[in-house]
Amino acid sequence: MLSSRHLLGLYGVPKKDIELILDTAKTFREIIERPIKKVPTLQGKTVVNLFFESSTRTRISFELAEKRLSADVLNFSASTSSLTKGETLKDTVRNIEAMKIDMVVIRHSAAGSPHYLTQLIEANVINAGDGTHEHPTQALLDMYTIREKIGKLEGLNVCIVGDISHSRVAMSNIFGLITMGANVAVCGPKTMIPKDLEKLGVTVFTNIDDAIKFADVLNILRIQLERGAASNFPSLREYHRLYGVTKERLLKSKKEILIMHPGPINRGVELASDIADGSNSVILEQVTNGVAVRMAVLYLIGTRSENN
Ligand code: CP
Repeated sequence: MLSSRHLLGLYGVPKKDIELILDTAKTFREIIERPIKKVPTLQGKTVVNLFFESSTRTRISFELAEKRLSADVLNFSASTSSLTKGETLKDTVRNIEAMKIDMVVIRHSAAGSPHYLTQLIEANVINAGDGTHEHPTQALLDMYTIREKIGKLEGLNVCIVGDISHSRVAMSNIFGLITMGANVAVCGPKTMIPKDLEKLGVTVFTNIDDAIKFADVLNILRIQLERGAASNFPSLREYHRLYGVTKERLLKSKKEILIMHPGPINRGVELASDIADGSNSVILEQVTNGVAVRMAVLYLIGTRSENN
């Protein structure tokens, strides 16, 4: 059984919980390959997807996972809701809960909004990305994909490249991978790396060639233009020249390096197109695995009290 009835982040989540989610996801990964992909596990449960920020992968992946588990699914869209008439987040979620729902999946631009929700409502809360804070299911699907492709996480050299300071994906990966015993590094311009990361045991590279030499896995992050990331370097062309992952750079490494990206990709900025679509890229497998991982999280949280 999971230690918590919510999934708010991977900070402090014990190894046994991460292992349980990844092992459970393996079962669901097999189920989603079957001709009939639906199981009755969450029949009778109602899940609300509250997306206050844009999303393609996470929103569709959660919705598909909920439907595969036979839950009743409600999708809330901020732009067509009474938020546009001035209703607060607090009133919005309390009114939705009054309709007797069981679980809430929330994406919001404000860090800490999923934590705030747990103080307002009784439903289980799953964080689908809160500001620059955490994106736990992305990190779980990243770890699942690494484990599936390489067979282990412990002792593996994983380098997260790019805009670390704006990245909730980076923070959740750092917390999760350290817990699972991986050697974690980050690489990017100094202006995009939070201070004190080394205190967590993270190696910091500012030279991409050094990072490539270190890595078994490169998890390459999007430059988040909407969060003002471009003000941290002279131009996107300059960023690509200094930090872009390209064929020429990878050829210098003697190792086969697993190439990951959470999406959406800025092609030709953080990652060359031929590498994004190349034989070492598992970017679309990450997306497929995301459905299985989210099924596992929804199942383990949604049935937690029954399994107690
Ligand atoms: N990886 C990720 O969170 O993508 P979306 O923003 O499309 O959900």
